[in-house]
Amino acid sequence: MSKPKLFATRQLPGSVFEDLSKYYEVEVWPEYTAPPYEVLLEKARNSDALITLLTDRVDCNLIESSQPRLRIISQYAVGYDNIDIECATRHGVYVTNTPGVLTDATADLTWALILAVTRRVVEADRFVREGKWWESGTGWHPLMMLGFEVTGKTLGIVGMGRIGRAVAERAKGFKMKILYYDPKRLPEEVEKELNATYVDLDTLFSQSDIVTIHTPLTKDTYHLVNEDRLRKMKRTAYIVNTSRGKVIDTDALVKALKEKWIAGAALDVFEQEPLPPDHPLTKFDNVVLTPHIGSATWDTRVRMAEIVRDNLIAFAEGRVPPTLVNKEVVNIRKPGFQV
Ligand code: GLV
Ligand code: GLV
Repeated sequence: MSKPKLFATRQLPGSVFEDLSKYYEVEVWPEYTAPPYEVLLEKARNSDALITLLTDRVDCNLIESSQPRLRIISQYAVGYDNIDIECATRHGVYVTNTPGVLTDATADLTWALILAVTRRVVEADRFVREGKWWESGTGWHPLMMLGFEVTGKTLGIVGMGRIGRAVAERAKGFKMKILYYDPKRLPEEVEKELNATYVDLDTLFSQSDIVTIHTPLTKDTYHLVNEDRLRKMKRTAYIVNTSRGKVIDTDALVKALKEKWIAGAALDVFEQEPLPPDHPLTKFDNVVLTPHIGSATWDTRVRMAEIVRDNLIAFAEGRVPPTLVNKEVVNIRKPGFQV
């Protein structure tokens, strides 16, 4: 039998394609930007397996037109809101993601953003480069670039999965009190260990000094941070988002910043990515912006590629992939290309 065909929508770090080519005939999209939808549609129709990114739209139309051939979609990300999971399951298509390995990198970036926005790091850097420090004529001033002190303050965590918990663990070093909301409450020992109190969202938004978002994007979390919740925040509070842009209503956030309902924001994700350089969010000094780089360390991006590889090899060998998203799919079709 000839090898099953694998199409990857982007080059990945490390050497996983070498390993994969023992099992698959591999084709890698050579460009820096995503293949257009029409191209992906046509590749999916002629492939047994796909490696996708969150920038690839894998909707039901694509999944249906890829049948009966396509059997597995291995997503290079922990989030998979770009994929119609329910449709994939219905058609017996396996979907895998890369959980766990990017937890620390994303929690680290969250902390980088918390500290950057509260201590005005990016603004201070601009102050030096633009000659404003020089022009000020003094090397030090009691009122120069004063920010907000995080130590001992209250951190509100929306979504207490792996990443939320890793952010909470790091907060211990800052002696912070944690308020959290998640559909699932943590066991009491874990709450104690993290100094975390389970509250409803309204309490979380009204009592936190910093609110940080760690939910997946779902129907329930779309625009969870809306005008109403932003209005509940303290005027001295900050919002941080390293999850998905659509969890925050951007127009409401811009309004909150303009009218100073809150002290600032630090954002790694946006409703529109890439963010246009003339977007209203770019106009505020008290907003820190990064280009969706939560998992962007060499270690993590290589490990994510290894998980994608391991899932695809397991499937090719007729085993259930280690990080299968749609676990019910095994009742529809067994893993492997022979079945
Ligand atoms: C990145 O945003 C991911 O979901 O891995
Ligand atoms: C992702 O790893 C999460 O569940 O927080």
